[in-house]
Amino acid sequence: MRSAGNLWTRKHLLGMAGLAPEEIDTLLDTAVSLREVNRRDIKKVPTLRGKTVINLFYENSTRTRTSFELAGKRMSADVVNMSVASSSVKKGETLLDTLANLQAMNPDVVVIRHPESGVLEFLANNLDAALVNAGDGRHEHPTQGLLDLLTIQDHLPLLGQKSFAGLVVAICGDVLHSRVARSNAIGLKTLGATVRFVGPATLMPAQAAEAFGVTVHHRLEEGLAGAQVVMMLRLQNERMNSSYLPSVREYAAFWGLNRARLKLADPNAIVMHPGPINRGVEIASEVADDPERSVILEQVANGLAVRMAVLYLLCGAGVRR
Ligand code: NCD
Repeated sequence: MRSAGNLWTRKHLLGMAGLAPEEIDTLLDTAVSLREVNRRDIKKVPTLRGKTVINLFYENSTRTRTSFELAGKRMSADVVNMSVASSSVKKGETLLDTLANLQAMNPDVVVIRHPESGVLEFLANNLDAALVNAGDGRHEHPTQGLLDLLTIQDHLPLLGQKSFAGLVVAICGDVLHSRVARSNAIGLKTLGATVRFVGPATLMPAQAAEAFGVTVHHRLEEGLAGAQVVMMLRLQNERMNSSYLPSVREYAAFWGLNRARLKLADPNAIVMHPGPINRGVEIASEVADDPERSVILEQVANGLAVRMAVLYLLCGAGVRR
């Protein structure tokens, strides 16, 4: 496989944008070496003893928040989950003030999910703690990008690939509102994959081809043809402020992945989804639950390993200073 470096000098993980292939390799290699901890009977190592991680989630989350919490705990860090619903944010405190107060308690890492795109860059310039972007608006979701890269990497031999170079990945559905699509496209392109954005014109970012170096397809059948990796996206209704679609039923009819459509992809193609899945909308249960094709729960397991790796590297464990 690719050469393993131990190159991690960054303070924050704000996005996939700007990460060099060697940095991605370091993150994935670290995740691979840490993931056996999760298969042990006693799932705990002392690696981050004495370190403090704060999870600050301004948007709903199941997988991401739980896995950051478990990632910290399995490495013996002290993990605090700030529930925004019960915090002073509800009393009118600004994000920067909340962070400055949390910082006064000297945490090592603050993990933030926030509905505004780009907010992490602003905070990183104004605070000392190491920040991890757990999803900012429609902008980026780097740990999702990394866990998806790790899941794909695990399957490269079965897909007849020695590396990501030339691998054909179709990212399908509501690309416009998806931070998952952005982080994946950036990471996959950095490692040399061929990326397709597949979705209705109303759910495609402007100038997607130029901005991301992808090809754009407005028919699912065309986008799926020969693809080795099929990544389905949820309709991000919470980010839609106008009507982008005639109806969900029509969307499912034209854009839903079912077994018949999946036959157009490579015979060994894997199917991915960041979750939460909307069964019968972007993905049929017969595909989501197909043990031969679906790697959706492998993504979740790898998410834990990737978040362990991120906390480990940001806490200075692999840093050459
Ligand atoms: C994604 C997110 O929140 O960006 N979910 C996740 O983190 N696993 C995608 C989504 O909500 O559809």
